Amino acid sequence: MSSEEIDIYQPPHHIQTNAHCKSMRDYEAMYKDSIENPTDFWHKIAQTFYWKKLPSLENFSTYNFNSSRSPITIKWMSDGITNVCYNVLDRNVYERKIGDKVAFYWEGNDPKDSSKITYAELLKEVCKFANVLKSKGLTRGDRVAIYMPMIVELLVAMLACARLGIIHSIVFGGYSKESLGNRIQAARAAVIITADGTWRGDKLLNIKEVADGAIDSCASSGFKVEHCIVVRHVTANHNAGENADMDKIGCRPTNKIQFSWQAGRDVWYDDEMSRASDICDVQWMDAEDPLFILYTSGSTGRPKGIMHSQAGYMVYVATTFKYVFDYKEDDVYFCTADIGWITGHSYVCYGPMANGATSVIFEGVPFFPDSSRYWQIVEKYKVNKFYTAPTAIRALMKFGDDFVTRCDRSSLEILGSVGEPINSEAWLWYHNVVGAGRCAIVDTFWQTETGGHLITPLPGATPTKPGSATFPFFGVEPVLLSEDGHVIEGQGEGHLAFKRPWPGMMRAIYENYSQFVSSYFKKFPGYYACGDGARRDKDGYLWITGRIDDMLNVSGHLISTAEVESVLAHHPSIIESAVVAKPHKVKGECLYCFVTLKNGEKFDKELVASIKNLVRVKMAPFAQPDYIQEAPSLPKTRSGKIMRRILRMVAVGDRNIGDTSTLADESVIEELFRLRVE
Ligand code: WT7
Repeated sequence: MSSEEIDIYQPPHHIQTNAHCKSMRDYEAMYKDSIENPTDFWHKIAQTFYWKKLPSLENFSTYNFNSSRSPITIKWMSDGITNVCYNVLDRNVYERKIGDKVAFYWEGNDPKDSSKITYAELLKEVCKFANVLKSKGLTRGDRVAIYMPMIVELLVAMLACARLGIIHSIVFGGYSKESLGNRIQAARAAVIITADGTWRGDKLLNIKEVADGAIDSCASSGFKVEHCIVVRHVTANHNAGENADMDKIGCRPTNKIQFSWQAGRDVWYDDEMSRASDICDVQWMDAEDPLFILYTSGSTGRPKGIMHSQAGYMVYVATTFKYVFDYKEDDVYFCTADIGWITGHSYVCYGPMANGATSVIFEGVPFFPDSSRYWQIVEKYKVNKFYTAPTAIRALMKFGDDFVTRCDRSSLEILGSVGEPINSEAWLWYHNVVGAGRCAIVDTFWQTETGGHLITPLPGATPTKPGSATFPFFGVEPVLLSEDGHVIEGQGEGHLAFKRPWPGMMRAIYENYSQFVSSYFKKFPGYYACGDGARRDKDGYLWITGRIDDMLNVSGHLISTAEVESVLAHHPSIIESAVVAKPHKVKGECLYCFVTLKNGEKFDKELVASIKNLVRVKMAPFAQPDYIQEAPSLPKTRSGKIMRRILRMVAVGDRNIGDTSTLADESVIEELFRLRVE
């Protein structure tokens, strides 16, 4: 079915009547204003925040997207002085007077484990932990690595960094010790904050052991981690009961986990907190100072340390959260993303907190104890705004409707999707089954680099089409470009690029200007090229078609083929490899690896298992390939470039390869089809 025949879903009436933006007319007027008068538009919004010094209207935003003229720069509100932690905590307690409002409900992996924390309590914890960080000698501009499960202390740690102007670099808790070690070293973070462990379904993960491995790998390449602060989460707590502030039931303690302890370097979070004062002034920051670094895959294989600013990021994530989730005071919002990803930074922590929202955070997985878990959480907390990824929706769809419908979901109003294109089947199931046909679906397109939503419906305004991210958010000006850089007007398909920055856009790749330019600004001078393709239909709706660079999207995790190939290069039996994406029913895409073996090596079950395991251990479990195929040789052009287009067709078994005349040796194709694995 083509997009032109797809049904259009009008915004649900009950959402529309009270929405911040109530119609397409409203949206279009506001959008026009944001494009024609960006300074006034964003200045008005900025004024609703707390500033030590309000940014002036003059030079409110300056930028250059053309690197041949002068260096790429992106600046917003640069003479403003503020503090993000103050705005998401102190302002809620002292100005909005919502100190007693629950900031976070914590839902443990075990349904019996839960707790909650109010804004005032969280502020106290953050002040205490900021004092702990100070006592380790940390100050403004230093980097701290955070490797933690989804627990309240993770929020405390990141906000304490923000309070002091320390740049946090959070690494997703599923990454391996190698990946973590590389990221610690790249940011030269002398302090790491971690936890003893976490439960994910029936698996107990030894987080501290991974952190130790990462610290060791740093040491062996000459970088010393001075302090490791460990949150006691799964091991028995000698201070149990004393932490009354946090109303914490905590996780069932276990003695099944063991790790080493290096006195002097390793300290327990609760020991440090018990000695810390709960008064801590904020460090006032320049608007353009960095707030955090977050690593994302780069198509060259080297992870990119995406750097976000203080003020622009704060204003943008708060505004997108308000409009896209149509924030209301009594909302209970549940975003299933891990804080270790940008979705967690922007839409678990900073965006909702800047609005004073009540959120649920969840330690576990959607299938434990059974596949009803998300909907049990929705029922338990009366969640009305829910945000998850297409891969989760597709995975849950497989188990049938009953797991959903047996839970009370009458509180639900808005259902968000993020991470990859959502196919119309998943969209319709989300809408019809999860939302019982009453909810607005918001398919939000954005990236680690963009800080917040770029292309998204507004729930009270935008008529939606299943699978389309619809229209740009305020201040965002997308264009479609042809391969040779011409703007495609009206209906058509091309590279998705952006003409100007919005406040929440990244400012840099940490200490790597040339990678910054080559990744985003080189191919189409004057534009930010995001690496995705998109199509505009006859009604002007945008449809994201997926990555057009050498990146894969596995269950919403962006993985670079080059990075996997560089891991495979370490395998003793492999001389060369090429990795491509293969469509996968649940994960969206999965990895299909072609490997050329050294002379005399045998391609068998053991070898395949060892290759899969290598990627799992060196990168992360989510990067584990689904298919390994032997390739006596790879299809290459005469200049030696691997033709991935052909490999993608072999992976899916499509023999309509088309023109192969640029291949150095056309006979390899037959051989590849013969050795294809299903
Ligand atoms: C890539 C960015 C944004 C937070 C999570 C991922 C893909 C993301 C959508 C969507 C189609 C999407 C793109 C993008 N993507 N959301 N709604 N529709 N594609 O952040 O790891 O930086 O990945 O995810 O390919 O470039 P990320």
